[in-house]
Amino acid sequence: MSGTQEEWQVAGRRKGAARRSKALQVSVTSTSCQDQVDIGKTVKRIRDAVSELRCEEFWQQWKEQLLVAGSALFWKPSESMVTEQQDKGKDSSQCQQLECVCYGLGSFSSCVSARYQLAMLLLLLDARRIPLKDCSLYDPAFSSGERDVLKELGLTVLTENEEGKRRTAKPTLFYLMHCGKALYNNLLWKNWSTQCLPLMIIIGNSFSGMQDRTIEREFKRDYSYISQAVSVCEERSLPCPSRLIDVFSDTAVITFPTSSLNRLPQSTWAEPPEPQYQHCPDLEITLKETPS
Ligand SMILES: C[S@@+](CC[C@H](N)C(=O)[O-])C[C@H]1O[C@@H](n2cnc3c(N)ncnc32)[C@H](O)[C@@H]1O
Repeated sequence: MSGTQEEWQVAGRRKGAARRSKALQVSVTSTSCQDQVDIGKTVKRIRDAVSELRCEEFWQQWKEQLLVAGSALFWKPSESMVTEQQDKGKDSSQCQQLECVCYGLGSFSSCVSARYQLAMLLLLLDARRIPLKDCSLYDPAFSSGERDVLKELGLTVLTENEEGKRRTAKPTLFYLMHCGKALYNNLLWKNWSTQCLPLMIIIGNSFSGMQDRTIEREFKRDYSYISQAVSVCEERSLPCPSRLIDVFSDTAVITFPTSSLNRLPQSTWAEPPEPQYQHCPDLEITLKETPS
């Protein structure tokens, strides 16, 4: 894993820097980066990482935790699906069809951590039998070459910066590894109802870890949706070996059981205000470009 730290900085480019170098970035993206990514070689590296992780004991634990989280989802399969699954002799709770959205993966062609996170994502999709095309990814740091690699793998690359504001209409696995708090907070805001939240499984940074690391007053003020969710979500922490600590540290499977959500005051659900972050100088996410 040598060089991970140096390479991480490529993935974790800060918002201010990204804005300052916008003109430069466009030309770099549209010319040299695409050429620099050898699609075949990058796909092979990713597949090698998948094979490596598949043999790891901690992967089995991730898989089990995901299955437990998935079987507790609010969503129930339709009658016709149940019959179909019973015909095949399978437990219906194991067969809920999920889709997947991944934000903030990072530049996986140059960053080892991001590459292992992508490999883990592919294993998770396989474990839950989520078709590759039903997994959508977005990161403003992706080069056009990296987008081509993802398409080559069969995944769906989003073209629009949603800032994490995606409403969940179906049971969905969100994969947000080491992402800025605003991305999680935006996602929660967009789904802030007792109907939507139970449809979500988030694999990402532990909310209670975020709470522990942030000054309480600022956490409540700036990330109010995470701050409210901490007390009602279920977090199952995911293990990782020490050699992969940079890649998978502080990760949990997070779900939102309806019974727990009902503990929040009814007033929280009425017209939840869109997060503004006016007190956050370092937001850690790239915002959508606004037309000038
Ligand atoms: C701290 S880095 C983490 C990268 C990688 N997952 C890792 O652990 O090394 C945060 C990532 O979020 C991405 N990001 C920033 N704004 C985003 C947005 N609006 N939507 C999706 N991803 C975003 C950044 O480009 C960056 O790659």
